[in-house]
Amino acid sequence: MKVKKAVIPAAGFGTRFLPATKAVPKEMLPIVDTPTIQYIVREAADAGIEDLLIITSRGKDAIVNHFDDAYELESVLERGGKTDLLGAVKDVCGKMNIYFTRQREQKGLGHAILCAKSFVGSEPFAVMLGDDVIAGNTPCIGQLTAQYEKYGATILGVQRVGMENVSKYGIVACDFERGKIHKVTDMTEKPQPKDAPSDMAVLGRYVITPAIFECIEKTGAGALGEIQLTDALVRLAEAEDVYAYEFDGKRYDIGNKLGFLQATVDFALARDDLGDDFRKYLKSLEL
Ligand code: UTP
Repeated sequence: MKVKKAVIPAAGFGTRFLPATKAVPKEMLPIVDTPTIQYIVREAADAGIEDLLIITSRGKDAIVNHFDDAYELESVLERGGKTDLLGAVKDVCGKMNIYFTRQREQKGLGHAILCAKSFVGSEPFAVMLGDDVIAGNTPCIGQLTAQYEKYGATILGVQRVGMENVSKYGIVACDFERGKIHKVTDMTEKPQPKDAPSDMAVLGRYVITPAIFECIEKTGAGALGEIQLTDALVRLAEAEDVYAYEFDGKRYDIGNKLGFLQATVDFALARDDLGDDFRKYLKSLEL
């Protein structure tokens, strides 16, 4: 079965980026000149996703506006002959259908995914976190949907982060591997290196079967009152096969200041219109 639906949870407060995120959603902070979430939406479109649900919350209407038409602006650009800019304004989501819903209370990532239950119905679906940008030749989520088509089971996108970094991520335990695919037996959120079963971290991309919704409903809120997707995935792995796939691509955590700066530098250097001048500027800095 092909994966045609995707969900982008983008309802979090973004407290690590305050004060910027007091009035501006972190997903709208630009990497060079393009909002972060647009890179993720493009990744979904490039992977052949047809229907996309973005989960927002109060104060995040700028995301909804960004994916709407902007007739006044478009006609000004058209009259001024600014065709490049017109293209950039119009082409934000390709041919995908984009839907929005609000998570009314920020009760965790698991709870945000539960808000997608009726959108998803009985199909497998992709999840792409709104603050993880992944650069590479093949869209990351497309790599995972291809694995779903092979295995017909939940696929978690992982990369090795080194044992010294495991305490920042959800880490998987696996019992066999076949190249880049591993069978998941357990998952643990932000373990200390001595307790970590591996250094394979789940990095913001998943293809999940609809059985996850029942698992989320059975998962209680944790210490901070949040329902964790990781806990529901552990439950899912007890009931059916769950795999981890080591995807190709460079991942940036743009919810974190350093990750955001790294993405900005790398993306600016890769731009035809900016790269050379920006490289010259960086070289001129006495670091
Ligand atoms: P994060 O914990 O990284 O995002 O959640 P956050 O809560 O926005 O950021 P900080 O920690 O306060 O800086 C991972 C993803 O889950 C979404 C976030 O928007 C992000 O894409 N999320 C989290 C929700 O949609 N709802 C929630 O209740 C919590």
